[in-house]
Amino acid sequence: MNLTERLGLAALHKLDPETAHGLSIKALKAGLAPTPGPVTSSRLRTQVAGLDLPNPVGLAAGFDKNGEVLAPLSRVGFGFIEVGAVTPRPQPGNPKPRLFRLTKDQAAINRFGFNNEGMEVMATRLAKRPKDAVIGLNLGANKDSDDRSGDFAKVLAHCAAYLDFATVNVSSPNTEKLRDLQGKAALGALLSGVIETRNTLSRPLPVFLKIAPDLTEAELQDIAEVALETGVDAIIATNTTLSRDGLHSRHKEQAGGLSGAPLFEKSTRVLAQLSQMVGDQVPLIGVGGISTAEQAYAKICAGASAVQFYTAMVYGGISLAADIARGLDRLLAKDGFETVAQAVGTKREDWL
Ligand code: FNR
Repeated sequence: MNLTERLGLAALHKLDPETAHGLSIKALKAGLAPTPGPVTSSRLRTQVAGLDLPNPVGLAAGFDKNGEVLAPLSRVGFGFIEVGAVTPRPQPGNPKPRLFRLTKDQAAINRFGFNNEGMEVMATRLAKRPKDAVIGLNLGANKDSDDRSGDFAKVLAHCAAYLDFATVNVSSPNTEKLRDLQGKAALGALLSGVIETRNTLSRPLPVFLKIAPDLTEAELQDIAEVALETGVDAIIATNTTLSRDGLHSRHKEQAGGLSGAPLFEKSTRVLAQLSQMVGDQVPLIGVGGISTAEQAYAKICAGASAVQFYTAMVYGGISLAADIARGLDRLLAKDGFETVAQAVGTKREDWL
């Protein structure tokens, strides 16, 4: 992090977190971000679910909910970007305040509830996206929808022409009963519907599933089976947690999903369990609590073919994207790996 970024972050932390987030989006729009371009090397360049990634370090969903800063984000060093969640119709989300910094824990709690401008606005922004980046969309359902499962396919059909991948997000804790869609029967029906829609597209794209970290081993097993049966192209593990174990910050009792450092172990364990269940039949994307190259590397060794992060940027700035990708390159080299794929799952047993 350079001095400008350090001062910028210090100023942002004096503001309410949602206001600070809005300002960071404005700063990106204004070109006030480091732009090393896509960090890449022969070691980092990799393929996941048919996507060619310059590096395996991605931006997790929820940072650019409305696709406002696609071009700047494509230049800060990420290997891929996931925007959204987006629902068919615009919706305001939950009342404010709904985002809390847990500085002592290097964490955040949010209960946004899919606030977004809707799929039509998102599609107009995606239509102007940079072509040389890998961009996916996190699909959500409207809170008041009478067909939540149908909402995912609706957003996919509307935005697919501009996307490289789409993620079915049934793991946000902030829309009541959404996580119930992770149950075996409901999930099977939902994913079959989304994949059927995907198969009718003129340009079919990979469909990912994003899961919660708060699942029992039996529930995970059900999800693994449904993923294999329906032919999901990758699984993203994990979303935020409802657990509040080991927190020290003032806001630790706020309702919502916890992200950041305290999520690292839990989400990595779920990743490793899932990796054992699906073997090499479904690639996994590891997310939850990554703030260093070592942690990105640990997720890869636990079974992830690529990783994502978000909350660490609140504390470490957006230059972390390039730092983590470059650090990962060094760690792979140090252990004698020539590709990311060679390292995937090599330490899975450590997490089981
Ligand atoms: C999120 N996350 C998220 N995930 C998702 O699938 N759809 C979404 O709309 C959002 N929105 C969102 C908002 C905020 C403010 C945060 C902090 C997080 C979850 C995110 O993508 C990621 O899975 C978790 O935050 C865990 O990763 P980190 O943040 O610990 O790196």
